[in-house]
Amino acid sequence: MEVVILDDARDLASVAADAITALLARKPDAVLGLATGSSPLAVYDELTARHGRGEVSFAQARAFTLDEYVGLPAGHPERYRTVIDRDFVTRVDFAPDAVRGPDGLADDIPASCAAYEQAIADAGGVDLQILGIGSVGHIAFNEPGSSFASRTRIKTLTRQTRLDNARFFDGDVDQVPTHCLTQGLGTIMAARHVVLLATGASKAEAVHQLVEGPVSALWPATILQHHPHATVLLDPAAAGRLQ
Ligand code: F6R
Repeated sequence: MEVVILDDARDLASVAADAITALLARKPDAVLGLATGSSPLAVYDELTARHGRGEVSFAQARAFTLDEYVGLPAGHPERYRTVIDRDFVTRVDFAPDAVRGPDGLADDIPASCAAYEQAIADAGGVDLQILGIGSVGHIAFNEPGSSFASRTRIKTLTRQTRLDNARFFDGDVDQVPTHCLTQGLGTIMAARHVVLLATGASKAEAVHQLVEGPVSALWPATILQHHPHATVLLDPAAAGRLQ
């Protein structure tokens, strides 16, 4: 695991964007893994700026998102499919249908999750996965106790994750869905390169566990200690509890 501590989110975004730009230069049809939430926003802004300057193209790339709330209607502004389109996908030149996400409105959730796993496999697997980390130590929505072997499936969100995400739902935790579909830890571990971003003191304990704690399902991100190519990008506050 490579740990990089830089001054602020813009510097971190630049490093992550460099990795994606270099990947697409050598493999224009690369498969990206996209996270939603606050952590990758500066990366998406940086990639959008580079795309505007003609420095990177996503025209041949494909992408898979990490997770989705269950039950939010198609037009809901916080549905992750809507969020990733707004934050990134529609700002660059992805081809129509090049970006897929788990279907939080599927009638047959197990079948839909299996089909999502198959679509990732059919695409050749994820070349570079962008990740954030929850204050509880989740990656995607693999909450504490998640199996290290897990694949895309339905999960119950912890109360803490729902409180953390209430800021996107008018500050009202009761509006945050109770369930999600999420890629599993096994799915994420199969990505060839993972790039995790964390900023702010609220992530410091999870980052401490990620980097220095024992590998434990109680802190699901710790499985990344076993990943052959994991890059962890931190600001000083998120790195504040590292030894
Ligand atoms: C989002 C996701 C989550 C977030 C995490 C951090 O698709 O998979 O694991 O990355 O909850 O969220 P932010 O970045 O909003 O602090």
